[in-house]
Amino acid sequence: MKIRGALALQKRQVLIFVVLLGLSRAGNINWIFLGNLARDLGLKVDELSSREARVVSDDNKKYLHLDLLNGDLLLNEKLDQEELCGSTEPCVLHFQVVLENALQFFQVELHVKDLNDHSPTFLDNEILIKISEGTAIGTTFLLESAQDLDVGSNSLQNYTISPNSHFYIKIPDSGDRKIYPELVLDRALDYEVEAEVRLTLTALDGGSPPRSGTTLVLIKVLDINDNALEFPQSLYEVQVPEDRPLGSWIVTISAKDLDARNDRKISYTFFHASEDICKTFEINPMFGEVNLRSPLDFEAIQSYTINIQSTDGGGSFRKMHPSS
Ligand SMILES: *[C@@H]1O[C@H](CO)[C@@H](O)[C@H](O)[C@H]1NC(C)=O
Repeated sequence: MKIRGALALQKRQVLIFVVLLGLSRAGNINWIFLGNLARDLGLKVDELSSREARVVSDDNKKYLHLDLLNGDLLLNEKLDQEELCGSTEPCVLHFQVVLENALQFFQVELHVKDLNDHSPTFLDNEILIKISEGTAIGTTFLLESAQDLDVGSNSLQNYTISPNSHFYIKIPDSGDRKIYPELVLDRALDYEVEAEVRLTLTALDGGSPPRSGTTLVLIKVLDINDNALEFPQSLYEVQVPEDRPLGSWIVTISAKDLDARNDRKISYTFFHASEDICKTFEINPMFGEVNLRSPLDFEAIQSYTINIQSTDGGGSFRKMHPSS
């Protein structure tokens, strides 16, 4: 709080107080000392009560208090600039000090300036977002806003995100004076390359220098079934004597899923198999084991070519080529 000046005019004096208001929303009512009216008006302290001094403001708000015992003029600390002036800047309040007898008026101006004494803060120190790796470029994700108890130019002005190759911040024009950040996907995510992305979101206010607050944005990339299954071998060649007993194991094939999720079951089936093959062999769909189902006869058939398909919901197949 600073008193900028007191103009000593005989009839109409104008006193100007400048107060820097740092907002505090908690606690008891405290009073900010603006100045001593008796001294600034050139009166004796007991004159204030004997001449029935009082403070008169247009809107009759009780934000000012004149202490007649010592002449101190006080401002209710719990008021904030927004309450006093709305968004009008500069915030100047006019009021009068009236002495009843003999009648005398003093014009007083109160210049209220918001002090940038609060940093923007986020409610949470981590924001978790789950984004599927197939998500289209340009998709936006609403992020949590920060709070700043200061007003006017000292309030929140901007958001930035730490440098990265996938996202940028957009601040949509919301119509009102509130600003909130949106995260925009700029380059596709790939779970198999990067399963999570950690970014720092910074909120900046308009003070000079600006104050800032940060939060972690943790992006979990969700895997989609974007990789075909792969067989380590494209051809399994097996020789089997014709006198193998029924149920004998012939070969086991296995496919590899390049999608990193392991809760997806791979299953195996014959693919476009002839009646002969279906009659002679069977495959365990879970383990890819091919077993003998009916006797082989070298004189009748000397080789079989079996296509086996493995699937995880997508599809991919390779051949197996047992010969007897
Ligand atoms: C917000 O920050 C970005 C990145 O630093 C900058 O390009 C932009 O001009 C800023 N916007 C405002 C309104 O200050």
